Amino acid sequence: MTLHEAARAAQQAAYAPYSKYRVGCALETVEGLVFTGCNIENASYGATLCAERVAIFKAVSEGHLKFRRIVICTDATLPATPCGLCRQVMGEFCDPDLEIILCGAHETQRHFRFAELFPHPFNQSSLV
Ligand code: THU
Repeated sequence: MTLHEAARAAQQAAYAPYSKYRVGCALETVEGLVFTGCNIENASYGATLCAERVAIFKAVSEGHLKFRRIVICTDATLPATPCGLCRQVMGEFCDPDLEIILCGAHETQRHFRFAELFPHPFNQSSLV
């Protein structure tokens, strides 16, 4: 299964009864392992988790902290970029050159490097 197929499969599990906006993603570690995530909404809207953070937290909770690529799939006409909270969480673990592949309706794609989406992160080096 490709990383893109894994992200689309993860999207099937999206729990999005409120927004109906379904997101799936697949994160590849530097060792070549894949962790997937989908958005998980909550009646208390602020408790919602985005697909990207689910995948990152799954990976980190299993000891994988270094990533190479992430594919994020939605059904949006213009493939959407990760939200600000997810960018902050990505900033903790992702190198500036991490590849971000966004897929939307009809498999339209946009490609970015992490530094293009989050050029001046607040991270560990900010705290010294
Ligand atoms: N969402 C994600 O899963 N990832 C993003 O980067 C943006 C937003 C989810 C959260 C919520 O369930 C729905 O999309 C609408 O905001």
